[in-house]
Amino acid sequence: MDNKKLRKLSVECLWDGLILNDDIYNDSGEVILIPKGEAVIISDLENMLRFYGEEGTVMIHENTYLKLIADGYMPVGASGEEIERQTGYQKLHREIGRFFYNSDIELWMSKEYMEVLSQEIADKLVKSDPVAILECMNLPRPMNEQLQRHSLNVAFLNGMQAMWLDMRPDRVKRFILAGLLHDIGKTVMLNNMARMHPVHSERLLKGQFDDEVRSAVRHHHERLNGKGYPDGIAGKEIGLCARVTAVSDVYDTMVAARGNKDSGMPFHILDMFYEGEVEGLDRKLVLGFIKKMHSTYKDKQVIMSNGGQGTIRYIPFNDAEHPIVQQGAKIRQTNDKWFCKAAFVSRICEQQE
Ligand SMILES: [Fe+2]
Repeated sequence: MDNKKLRKLSVECLWDGLILNDDIYNDSGEVILIPKGEAVIISDLENMLRFYGEEGTVMIHENTYLKLIADGYMPVGASGEEIERQTGYQKLHREIGRFFYNSDIELWMSKEYMEVLSQEIADKLVKSDPVAILECMNLPRPMNEQLQRHSLNVAFLNGMQAMWLDMRPDRVKRFILAGLLHDIGKTVMLNNMARMHPVHSERLLKGQFDDEVRSAVRHHHERLNGKGYPDGIAGKEIGLCARVTAVSDVYDTMVAARGNKDSGMPFHILDMFYEGEVEGLDRKLVLGFIKKMHSTYKDKQVIMSNGGQGTIRYIPFNDAEHPIVQQGAKIRQTNDKWFCKAAFVSRICEQQE
């Protein structure tokens, strides 16, 4: 066995059902653990490693590894663990729930605690495939989780938008904080006072957070045409962070409202944005949002409604719901019968030397 051609790989970079075009060896490169063409079963592999070497590490041919990375996409339905590893979504929304519904008033509105959470979210945004994060927003939302899920989603979306606008890390974090806190007032009020929730939310911050966060929390339902609430301010009176939070808020509300649509992809929401279905949003931000979402999904591998696999090649700006998809040598536009059902999530793993 020529060890020079082999390289170490963490078992974490493999997944159940993966079939490689070459053998997988133990860490000394002497024992073939899984022969080529055979599906990887992680639990079996880990058992074998207990006998044959270093736990958690295998050896693999360099070319196989490169191919693995190139093909390193997995369908969303089969990749719950990978999505969680990248995004920490379930853990984060449970933490937010604990924070939102904590009876200890000091902990409940602790700036330190919120800042730790927003830093965690900022880190995830840098390290994850954005599709993995967007995919989490599609998970079913039980009634008792709605507020924390929406708050986390708006935090992620605010962070994405801030990064797309090339903001510095400390400001990205501020936008994330505004997303986390924008509806906090809803934890303490009755539904019939719904239009007052931004005022309550701001009051609960008790001057602890800086101006940009507080004004975004108060003004996330204001509209550029002056038809929003609670203050009815218009145009430039509404700060950038509030305008960004409004876009995130509307996007996530649309995701939550679409229920069990056949496709798990957000393209029809982008079309609704393009058509201006929600009046008074910052048009420049909305168009930038659509553009960045398109580039997020461009060249992504997708599962089609007929079960086949394809690659998104182009998303028409005014008709995102019908992207152009390549299958083999064929490239054609999707339609109501043949559409993208789910995207594949990129596997992100650090190569071990
Ligand atoms: Fe709100």
